Amino acid sequence: MDKILGEGDGMMFRRKSQVLLGVSALFLTPLYGDGAKAGPAITRGLQPFVDALPIPDVIHPDRKRSEIAITLNQFKTKFHRDLPETTVWGYNGTSPGPTIEVERGQDLRVHWQNALPTVHFLPSSIGGVMPDPTMPDVRNVTHLHGAAVTETNPMDRVNNNDGWPDAWNVPGQEQVAEYPNDQEARALWYHDHAMLTTGRNVYAGLFGLYLIRDDYERSLNLPSGKYEIPLEFQTRSFNDDGSLYYPKVVLNEVYGNAMAINGKIWPYLEVEPRKYRFRLLNGSNARTVALRLLEQSTGKPGPALYEIGSDGGFMENTAVLGDPGDPSSPRLTLAPAERADVIVDFSAYAGRSFFLSNNAMPDHADGELPIPQLMLFKVGSAVSEPDTSSLPMKMRPIPRMSPQNAAATRQIVFGEADMPDGSQMLLLNGKRWSDPVVEKPVLGTTEVWELANTTGDLHPFHIHLVRFQVLDRTPFDVDAYKKTGQINLTGPAVTPDASEQGWKDVVRSPQGYVTRIILRFEPFAGSYVYHCHILEHEDMGMMRPFEVVAPPARKK
Ligand code: C2O
Ligand code: CU
Ligand code: CU
Repeated sequence: MDKILGEGDGMMFRRKSQVLLGVSALFLTPLYGDGAKAGPAITRGLQPFVDALPIPDVIHPDRKRSEIAITLNQFKTKFHRDLPETTVWGYNGTSPGPTIEVERGQDLRVHWQNALPTVHFLPSSIGGVMPDPTMPDVRNVTHLHGAAVTETNPMDRVNNNDGWPDAWNVPGQEQVAEYPNDQEARALWYHDHAMLTTGRNVYAGLFGLYLIRDDYERSLNLPSGKYEIPLEFQTRSFNDDGSLYYPKVVLNEVYGNAMAINGKIWPYLEVEPRKYRFRLLNGSNARTVALRLLEQSTGKPGPALYEIGSDGGFMENTAVLGDPGDPSSPRLTLAPAERADVIVDFSAYAGRSFFLSNNAMPDHADGELPIPQLMLFKVGSAVSEPDTSSLPMKMRPIPRMSPQNAAATRQIVFGEADMPDGSQMLLLNGKRWSDPVVEKPVLGTTEVWELANTTGDLHPFHIHLVRFQVLDRTPFDVDAYKKTGQINLTGPAVTPDASEQGWKDVVRSPQGYVTRIILRFEPFAGSYVYHCHILEHEDMGMMRPFEVVAPPARKK
């Protein structure tokens, strides 16, 4: 049955009788499931696994204090062998942009130079809010996600370290940002953060990886060099002419119906039968992925994913995910903006091929396409050199922060608000971006934040400046909350799984749960932001400023 619910830009429509596409292998998993998302989907006929996985260029500043320029520009790229060239935005002519690699404590100043055209190639309108005519169509500000930087004068458009959303610049201008990188080894990422246009700017291609290295990381003897590979995910949809599709009216969020990894859709990677380290980043606007490896020819479980690090650096205990010897072993779940540091040991799998399987469904079942296969690993027959790298199962202890030491507990309610024009806005605590700052944690203090989600879908919550620990998630009565404003817990607290036991800067906040996190506000006072990392939600209103204030002077 073909049931067209609506047509045209931004309207949802559903095609029930989708032709299932199989791969030309013994084991046929549909590349798409049943159902289609609004927007053309020429990717439906594409052959998977014909393009090699690209590896982004690496920028490796070598001085204690370095200063570099990176250009934001528009160019064309091929997402797939059989797709025409596609116009995108990126950094220094690539999307994802170059991977920036620094040593802990190495000071880096970046001149983010805006050489984009003055007219955006994607439409703009979020949640029915028409573009603000007082804002230029193309405006940009770059944020280094996960970085601890100073931000004392957030509206300074020239010297802006954290990428304050309102401090955007326009083509021909630059933003100078200083990154002290005084943080333990971890994967950060940089991306656009301009007010009301982050969704289409990042979707256009403005993102890249940023790695901080340190001695502890080297002491772990992890696979390195060509055996350490970034996997940067970003969902895409295409018009029939190969151009990127972004809806004219964004109703909720943009899931996309194909997955680009390092800028190719359905790439393959030839690996040697040995250990590899993969640096995963979900740079998608809205889509969560849940990953494991499955053998291409049989669909049977492939090698396990050993997660050694999350957003904020190394974990204490390696999380074993997608373990072929344990059917109950979970998948690796990454919501937008989450990162994972993962080791895969292919040594027992010479000559076999595995695809990266994803079984996460988009939140709204409104005909969103599942993307069950993301890429293919082809394991060669021999190693080119002996593998002397290590796979640690234990790393440094992570001191657990205790709620007993919290100076404050705050509630952040994820909710919908009815607008006068009849539309709905997604907001945090019912407040808009422009409302006065409420959260003013004191520098050096610890707080518990309770993220209560009263909406119908999951929100990946992100806060700038700090990394945090996830305490637990407890179900509550959403209907009662909507009537009384009271949170009544309805079940026991669920402790986070092994993947979430380390340091995080993004946490999945599922509907109907209070997700508790604990954070210490350091090392800088200043103005920062917290928001949902579904980019269309962020643009729509799920973003708020907060201010870390200096401790009051002690009385003599
Ligand atoms: Cu990934 Cu406010 O950012
Ligand atoms: Cu951030
Ligand atoms: Cu959200």
